[in-house]
Amino acid sequence: MLKIDVDNINGKTESLYVYGEQSILTELEEHNVILNHSCRQGHCGSCILLLLSGDVDHQECLVPLSNGEILACRAKPVTDIKIGLRDF
Ligand code: FES
Repeated sequence: MLKIDVDNINGKTESLYVYGEQSILTELEEHNVILNHSCRQGHCGSCILLLLSGDVDHQECLVPLSNGEILACRAKPVTDIKIGLRDF
């Protein structure tokens, strides 16, 4: 299994254990960590997260991403990862 460390999303800091078969967005939802999202297809950008450590398999998307940013709906963990909210 892979570990997703969630750094202070919705006031929670916790570790989730996943198989890496589903998007990070879906994994978070299944662990009751609710993240902003809308399209679930890499179009709207509302699910942007920071990848603080580890690697993900990121599918193509229409949203321009800065270094370290990922879309929770388009990324699956391939190693243990740590994620956090982007500073606006
Ligand atoms: S939910 Fe729209 S880009 Fe992820």
